[in-house]
Formats: sequence, C-alpha cells, structure tokens
Amino acid sequence: MAEQNKENMMEKIVSLCKRRGFVFPTSEIYGGFANSYSYGPYGTELKNNIKKMWWKKFVQKRPDIVGMDGPILLNPKTWEASGHTEGFNDAMVDCKNCKRRYRADHLVKELTEEDMEGELERMTKTLQSGLKCPECGKSDWTEVRKMSQMFKTEMNGFDGSVYLRPETAGAIFSDFKNIVDSVRVKVPFGIAQIGKAFRNEIVARNFIFRIREFEQMEIEYFIEPETEWEPIFEKWLQDQEEFALSIGAKEEDLRRYEHPKAKLSHYSKKTIDIEYNFPFGFGELFGLAHRGDFDLMQHSKFSGQKLEYFDPVKNQWYVPHVLEPTVGLDRLILTAICAGYAEEKLENGEERIVLRFPKAVAPIKVAVFPLMKNKPELVDKAKEIFENLSENFMCEFDDNGNVGKRYRRQDEIGTPYCVTVDFESLDDDAVTVRDRDTMKQERIKIAELENYLAKKLSE
Ligand code: GAP
Repeated sequence: MAEQNKENMMEKIVSLCKRRGFVFPTSEIYGGFANSYSYGPYGTELKNNIKKMWWKKFVQKRPDIVGMDGPILLNPKTWEASGHTEGFNDAMVDCKNCKRRYRADHLVKELTEEDMEGELERMTKTLQSGLKCPECGKSDWTEVRKMSQMFKTEMNGFDGSVYLRPETAGAIFSDFKNIVDSVRVKVPFGIAQIGKAFRNEIVARNFIFRIREFEQMEIEYFIEPETEWEPIFEKWLQDQEEFALSIGAKEEDLRRYEHPKAKLSHYSKKTIDIEYNFPFGFGELFGLAHRGDFDLMQHSKFSGQKLEYFDPVKNQWYVPHVLEPTVGLDRLILTAICAGYAEEKLENGEERIVLRFPKAVAPIKVAVFPLMKNKPELVDKAKEIFENLSENFMCEFDDNGNVGKRYRRQDEIGTPYCVTVDFESLDDDAVTVRDRDTMKQERIKIAELENYLAKKLSE
C-alpha cells in the first residue's frame, strides 16, 4: 500500500472509531487531555474479547501457567530493584522555534553508545549540527535532557514517592515467593497478569499505539538455568505470532526484529520484538526477552528474601531464569481494527465499510431487527429473540432506519450476523439471518436459531 494511502487509512480508522463508539478522545468536553483516549461501548467489548482470548490461550489452556492480579501501586523498592527509578528515562529535546517536543532518539537514529549521559551529548551535537525540525524546518534545538518515564504520586501513611507501575511485571516478581509457596507450580512454569501500566511518554502518538496509560498482558516464564532455552524461546515467538493471527493480523504484516547484541542489557541473552505493519509503518506489538536471573536476584537483594525454587527432580534450590513474553493490549486492539478494516464496492454500486473481525473478536455477535419499528407484533417477536439470544451472545437490538442502513451500521462495527423478523416470521416462525462477509441471507427456524448461531460463531 502506498504511504499516502496508509496515512489516509489511519485517519479513516480514527474517524470510524469515534463515529461508531470504539475509541474517542477522552475529556473532549474540556478540550481533550494529552492524547488520552476512552474506550466506548464497542471498544470495551473488543478489549474484553481480546483479553479473554489471551487468557484462554495462555492461562486456561496451559497447565504450566497461572494467573495473578497485583496492584498498580507497589512498594517503591520494587522499582529500585528493577532499575526503573534510576534508569527508566527517555531523551527529550525541544525545538526552540516552534516549541514542538520530541524524543531525541526518534530524530537521531544512529546511536551506538550504551550509557545515557554519553548518548545525550552525542544527540545534542548531532541535532545542533544542522538537523532540521520536522515541524517547522528550522534547526534551533535545546540541549537533549533525560526525562523519567515514571509517574510519581504520594500515599497516606507512606514517606516518600510512590509510582504508578510502568509495567505489570513488577508484581509478578515481588509475589513470586507467595505463588511458589501457595500453588503447586513446577519449573518450567509461568505467571500471567493483565493490567494497566503508566509511562510518562514524551510524545503520545499514533492514536492508541503510544499512550501514557495503557494495558499490558505479560507472562514471566520461569525455566531451569541450565536448560536448553532456545527451543522454548522459539515456541514463545510462535505462540505470540499465532495469537496475532487469531485476532485477524495477516502473516505478511508481521515480522520479527531482533535487538542487536550491543544494545541488549547485560543480563539479557536475547530479545526479539514481533512488529505489526500499522498504517504508519512497522511498530512493536509483542516483546520476548530472555532476562536470565536478573529480576529475581535484584528483588532478592533489595528485599533480603530468598527468591529461589526447590527442584524436586534435581533435589536442589536455584534461582530460575526467566523468559518474558509481553504485549500491549491497546496495540492489539489497533491491530485488530487495522487488519479488519475494508472498504468494498457492492454489486449495486454502493460502497460499504466493514470490519472483518474474526468472530471471537467481534464486539457484537448478533444484531436483531424487527423489519419495521411501528409494527408491535414484529417488535415484540424481535425483542423476545433478543432476550433469548442475549443469554449466550453479546447482541444488539436495532429498529432505527431501514434494514439496509442497519446492515451498514453493523458491518462498520464488525457484527458477524444480523437477524431480521419480518411479516413472514409471524406465519412460518422463521427469521432471515444475514452473514457479514458473504452478505448472503438464510431462512432459519426460530426454534433452531440459537444452535445455528452457536455453530456458526464457533467456526
Ligand atoms: N515488562 C517488559 C515491558 O514492559 P516493553 O517493551 O517496555 O516491555 C511491553 O512493553 C509492551 O507494552 C510493548 O511490546 C507494547 O506492546 C506495550 N507498550 C509499551 N509502551 C506502550 C505505550 N506507551 N502505549 C501502548 N502500549 C505500550
């Protein structure tokens, strides 16, 4: 797809998301708030469906993975141990002319040095050697400064700063001992968590791709230190890619990016991102890192607690190593919407926009319509069908406008099936079921409708 079309596509997606209640700028009545977004009714359903699918694949169906749900505010020692308090910084620079703020590493890309101070100086030099501001075209830069990505707050009864967690992983490590002591887990095993994370990003951009309050779905997968980890690492990459495909991503839009050895933290053996081809270019969707025993050792050092595992097979204690598969939920939502978005020309010359979500992802599974809203016998029957079906499926009742318009609306939110009650239904106890993708219609007996839809929705 040409770059121009891709840019245009992002605008179309943002507009669809607002128009149809998926995602809108938050606090809009106050003029918005710092590129933050709210999920509307369909966005919330979409989010819940993707969370459920992830939990099913990586917790429910995995005998070796358990879940947990830790708080956003943790003892700040957690972040000292993980290195976030000192080291979770971005390099920030302002254009003095137009006042636009940037992440310096997004402007100066060829960085090699490891230490932040060295990089700040190098970036300042490169920028001040004539690099132009992408906004105003001038080259008038401030010094590059470091800015912490940690959101600070206070807590009654606690002296000192408390932080909103910058990643969900912290609680998994600090609760490692409680989980090992209370649940019968055997290495290799994983602990999974879904929850909000907060990062004071210098620039929030690309819609919900980079935001300051977002949701992560993370797993810490503990392995025996001497084990052959490469096949396990590869399997995790494949499982993550498989998950991306299950929410609608196409294989050709996924690629792996391996972090160069020189850029890896000293404890990491390997880090690979799985990137998705968004309309604005490839961007990180999943991450997978081999983190050695760094986290458990650090938390052990800072807490004074032994964070080890007793291996009954080897009959010895050790600190397990960890593989960390992680993904941002908001980025998965954007992926599902971008991958599903299609504009189609119909045989009758009309155009439709359709979100071709996989059925498990679709926010609404079935829409139920009475053919006409001013015919009580049709409305009553449609309401009865809605009541029955909504026991098992997320349904929507719609009697607004003509049926054609209702189909277009449901196509735009990706509803796989629309059920219409018409005059014939009163005689033959059957309804018309219309398929989102083929647009074909079938006549189904009301008594068989639930089973029919259950089967179709699970295909
Ligand atoms: N515990 C490891 C960790 O947090 P990360 O690569 O910094 O690793 C994990 O973040 C995932 O969280 C990323 O792969 C990305 O999908 C998502 N993510 C990170 N920053 C984000 C942001 N500002 N907005 C939305 N999602 C973000």
